[in-house]
Amino acid sequence: MNMNTATALDTPVAPPPEHSILPRPVQFNITDATPRHWFANDPFRTHFFNALFTTFPPGENFFVRSVVHYRDNIKDPVLLQQINAFAGQEGTHAFSHQDHLDILTRQGYTSLERENRFIDGFLKLTNKIAPKFALAMTVALEHFTALLAHQSLMRKDLFYEPAHADFKPLFEWHAAEEIEHKSVAFDVYQEVDGSYRRRIIAMVLSTFFMVVFLVPVRMSPLLYRDGVLFKWSTWRDGLPFLYGKQGKFRMPWDHYKQFYRRDFHPWDVQDFDLIKKFRERYQSGEWQTETQVKSQR
Ligand SMILES: [Fe+2]
Ligand SMILES: [Fe+2]
Repeated sequence: MNMNTATALDTPVAPPPEHSILPRPVQFNITDATPRHWFANDPFRTHFFNALFTTFPPGENFFVRSVVHYRDNIKDPVLLQQINAFAGQEGTHAFSHQDHLDILTRQGYTSLERENRFIDGFLKLTNKIAPKFALAMTVALEHFTALLAHQSLMRKDLFYEPAHADFKPLFEWHAAEEIEHKSVAFDVYQEVDGSYRRRIIAMVLSTFFMVVFLVPVRMSPLLYRDGVLFKWSTWRDGLPFLYGKQGKFRMPWDHYKQFYRRDFHPWDVQDFDLIKKFRERYQSGEWQTETQVKSQR
């Protein structure tokens, strides 16, 4: 296997037997005292993650609504159980990222909360008037979250180690759970009608939204607030982080394009090994102790 990107087109389309989807109710130590530029002490990289992470509250609630809408179409008891676990995981993700958003709002980055109100309203409307398309968008965006998670765990040196200690557990936990539940929305979609055309249209739109519009546009007010938006060095040093050879959006190209295959399935990429260690450490209680996160129960 190529160690930088996902491959494995000939592997079976199921996770290994020990796979399970386990909602883990935890609380993180991200507070007002956490450094403002918490990723590599760098405003551009930090605000990339701020912009991305704070879309998760409306985004992940949308994913849950989109999948749960079709619960009655599902007869397979395993998939039904996975839908519940998926909703549990995404609900806690949304909640945790809302805490982060509240801190940013208090710090004066108020554009995010305002944009989220608009995004939330738009996504709720999509659920209402186009539930099949909402599910297709969820399938596409879940491919994005799975590949970004894969990349963060595969290249910890670039996308995990530079984070402040308060944020590291959030990265690891969210990435692991995204990989655990990466096929749930897809499997529900296949049961509903599995339209290839709709899935691809949803992916093209999601890609535009993520790569061209959402993150760069959403980042700009944050950079402006820090007084670095119009500095040449911000973009000279920052853009390669997204679009350079080892960029966040460029490196996972092989993984990304698999979605366009007619016979694609999320478990074509067998990356369970990436989360095995985290699962074991969580199960034994070692992970909470090491990272000092608290259980919500
Ligand atoms: Fe999530
Ligand atoms: Fe997800």
